[in-house]
Amino acid sequence: MTHPTPLLAQCVEHLRPRIDSALSQYTDLAADCPAELREAMRYSLLAPGKRIRPLLVLLSAQACGGGPETAMPAACAVEMVHTYSLIHDDLPAMDDDDLRRGRPTCHKKFGEALAILAGDALLALGFEVVARHIQPAAVAARCCAELAAAAGPCCLVGGQADDCLGKLRRSDSEDASPESGMVRLESIHQRKTGAMIAVSLRLGALAAGADAARLASLDRFGRCLGLAFQITDDLLDVRGAEAEVGKRLGKDSNRGKLTFPGLLGIDRSVRRAEELIDEGCDALAPLGSQADGLKAVARYVLERNL
Ligand code: IPE
Ligand code: IPE
Ligand code: MG
Ligand code: MG
Ligand code: MG
Repeated sequence: MTHPTPLLAQCVEHLRPRIDSALSQYTDLAADCPAELREAMRYSLLAPGKRIRPLLVLLSAQACGGGPETAMPAACAVEMVHTYSLIHDDLPAMDDDDLRRGRPTCHKKFGEALAILAGDALLALGFEVVARHIQPAAVAARCCAELAAAAGPCCLVGGQADDCLGKLRRSDSEDASPESGMVRLESIHQRKTGAMIAVSLRLGALAAGADAARLASLDRFGRCLGLAFQITDDLLDVRGAEAEVGKRLGKDSNRGKLTFPGLLGIDRSVRRAEELIDEGCDALAPLGSQADGLKAVARYVLERNL
């Protein structure tokens, strides 16, 4: 993470080693798991990602008065589901990328079959971790249901489907107004990326036993942060530096992807992300200073260069 605020740097320094160590323990699998599969899972999961989603889980728990240990299984589960989505997103049939988190993509390193299976395995393992380790059982069940909805056909997978089919369907929307293009784009971004960010906040809050008012504030924050996060991802694709971002850039427009800079231009996209972050931080006001860590992550999202 580059140029974080001092508060965010403190949170990251304190929480990130704990997240990485828990991810490593959860993937220290029994001998029945083939060694190559375990290696492919750990190669992608333990690679140097930003860990934004697990940090959000833990900081959301903190904003609701819960310690990191209570929410750690949910934090790891979200990172596992996210990593599966990255492995599959990079496959030749999807974005066909060869660089991720500064390393060759999973399928480049292990072949397509093992990469698909490593993704499948991380998805299943994430749910097992929540079901077994979040307490009490009723909260675990609720977390599993919410994570499944965020990862499922109406959110992540549906958004990815529309993102991939966007090119094929572009002719249908050629006559459409710019406003309807924007509605469609926001809907894709909210589902493919926003939903996993929003559910990260909810799982942290649920694990900490948050009340409905806190959950509602975190939901409003999550919706704004999730959309802003994908806007800044689109912006990095057009103006980031590959060596910092750790993935190939400048590919969205060649692939015919519907993106914020593609539709609004760079300046208006930056302004839209700023507005969303302001609105999101306002939504956290009722949580007081306990939510300062979350606000620091939100500010970082605007300034990120990876
Ligand atoms: C990349 O997510 C994919 C998107 C949803 C935009 P991140 O930018 O959080 O990737 P990592 O986890 O840091 O590698
Ligand atoms: C992917 O969006 C979002 C996911 C659900 C993985 P992108 O395709 O823009 O993500 P990057 O740029 O490859 O990380
Ligand atoms: Mg993609
Ligand atoms: Mg991609
Ligand atoms: Mg992208």
